[in-house]
Amino acid sequence: MNYRHAYHAGNPADCVKHALLVLLLRALSAKPKPLFVLDTHAGIGAYDLTSIEAGKTGEWRAGIGRLRQTTPPALADFMALTGTAEHYPGSPALARALLRPQDRLALCELHPDDAVTLKRRFARDPQVHIHRRDGYEALTALLPPPERRALVLIDPPFEKTDEFETLAAALQAAHRKFPTGVYAAWYPVKHRAPVRHFIADIQARGIADIITCEILFREPLDPARLNGCGVLIVNPPYNFEATAAPVLEALRATLAEPDGTSRITRIADA
Ligand SMILES: C[S@@+](CC[C@H](N)C(=O)[O-])C[C@H]1O[C@@H](n2cnc3c(N)ncnc32)[C@H](O)[C@@H]1O
Repeated sequence: MNYRHAYHAGNPADCVKHALLVLLLRALSAKPKPLFVLDTHAGIGAYDLTSIEAGKTGEWRAGIGRLRQTTPPALADFMALTGTAEHYPGSPALARALLRPQDRLALCELHPDDAVTLKRRFARDPQVHIHRRDGYEALTALLPPPERRALVLIDPPFEKTDEFETLAAALQAAHRKFPTGVYAAWYPVKHRAPVRHFIADIQARGIADIITCEILFREPLDPARLNGCGVLIVNPPYNFEATAAPVLEALRATLAEPDGTSRITRIADA
């Protein structure tokens, strides 16, 4: 396991994922019924942008750094949750910030050091449960939750060449066990072909009601670069496309190059 999120926290793709995560959590918290949030690939929870790791890549400067200079109105809610200049929340910190007293958060992290850091961060929090385990396995082990309402974030590092296939199969297995859950899976866009195959694979698995929210920071011509990213959402909340469109557009306008694009696509009917 070579991937450490501390090098990448707050980069443009992280901001896209987290702005959409906040929108999903807000939408699902509109009903008073308890919500279970499962983050299958959690990282360390929150990040210090003055750390050696963050300084080595400086990736956050083109992401949260740029957003903090402009703060587009459509991103005000997300930005208010991202904290001070030296810090950036991971998905666990964001989810925890929006958890209500009746909700629960389960965090899975496989890297031994990162799992320890995560455990320390939430040590005395009765609403948060840390699992040092494979997040894909946890999907079927922890679902369906007793609450019968859940948001599941699947955010793998894409270190392995078969991660798209693993993700699609895991999503299908989780959906079989818990078809009404809301699933959000992040994926990179380096070039178009792997993403096309992933979407076709997902469509062939017969899961209904799926959209993708995608941003290309630039034309994906150089596959050595992270040229964009997407979040695939199964069972999006009511009217989510309309809510997400201005957020995605604000992210594109701030983070993308002039030839960048954003789009929301329905890939499976409800
Ligand atoms: C992209 S990072 C997660 C970032 C986090 N979700 C956030 O938004 O702040 C992916 C994380 O997954 C962990 N990881 C890799 N393989 C895993 C697996 N099979 N199960 C659980 N965690 C895994 C990595 O150690 C890394 O911390």
